[in-house]
Amino acid sequence: MSTTLTLRRPDDWHLHLRDGAMLKGVLPETARHFARAIIMPNLVPPVVKSSDAAAYRDRIMAALPDGMSFEPLMTLYLTEDTDADDVAAAHASGLVKAVKLYPAGATTNSASGVRDFDKVRGVLERMAEIGLPLCVHGEVTDNDIDIFDREAVFIDRVLDPIRRKTPGLRVVMEHITTQDGVEYAASGGDDLGATITTHHLVINRNDILVGGIKPHYYCLPVAKREEHRLALRKAATSGDPTYFLGTDSAPHVDALKEHACGCAGCFTATNTLSILAEVFEQEDALGRLEAFTSLNGPRFYGLPVNEDTITLTKGDPVTYPEKLDTGDGPVTVFDPKMPLHWRVT
Ligand code: NCD
Ligand code: ZN
Repeated sequence: MSTTLTLRRPDDWHLHLRDGAMLKGVLPETARHFARAIIMPNLVPPVVKSSDAAAYRDRIMAALPDGMSFEPLMTLYLTEDTDADDVAAAHASGLVKAVKLYPAGATTNSASGVRDFDKVRGVLERMAEIGLPLCVHGEVTDNDIDIFDREAVFIDRVLDPIRRKTPGLRVVMEHITTQDGVEYAASGGDDLGATITTHHLVINRNDILVGGIKPHYYCLPVAKREEHRLALRKAATSGDPTYFLGTDSAPHVDALKEHACGCAGCFTATNTLSILAEVFEQEDALGRLEAFTSLNGPRFYGLPVNEDTITLTKGDPVTYPEKLDTGDGPVTVFDPKMPLHWRVT
């Protein structure tokens, strides 16, 4: 018996495409299934000014294979020197759909991020005025805070104070990994949303550490205990418009993942939809997959939902390459350690 599931074409509300040969290699993996994606600005050097975002957008479009359609939704990387007028102009022209806040040192290529939140107050106030969302990497970087507690502490020490001081600021809590994140996001009304990655619905911290270090399951924020994974699954499959898909597909070549100081990031663009369908089916929530992948995100960002559709068909286990060859070297595709039965047809 074959079962099919038709969804409005999904969007990815948190994606790393990189640049150059890596961009060329990974872009088709997303564009094959997704109509749009919020493009992370953590290049080296980062996408800081509107002119940087325009140039990066052009490079993405130039890398898109003929016959594929895809709309990159650009973001700016917030620094202590970000100019509120430049941000407002980039928003007014339609070029930029969000500004990204990385606490300095929180993750890959975040050295130019924010240390002193008072220095970005003016930009945040302007964003609240014009309705431009702030995408937040929600982890403190203090050395005395255990890595598994960094999200919960960020909510109390940084996020909640920012939101109280900046009424009307629209915030996306990105790639939440904890029950604390799930609960705080739910408490914030229409101005607060949260993305959930594909891999955090599948792995917990044991997958990284038990039986030897598994670098391809290491990402930031790091996967937490099982109870948190279960909270994320409940939130993602609930249909609640607070939560939407941001894969955080973050390619690094194998040589840099399988390393004494391995990079953070899971590359899930290739098999994300098959994994999500499997997870939603396990949770008896296939009927709510479309809300998570295709409806809740546009609703938060005030964008139209996609008119075209994709169809998933259930059948024999799906095969996909273990690695993607890019001009920069091989990138391992996320292994969900379970057979996947839904393929995009
Ligand atoms: C991301 C990357 O590689 O750019 N890594 C990750 O583990 N998610 C950065 C990020 O989103 O934190
Ligand atoms: Zn990311």
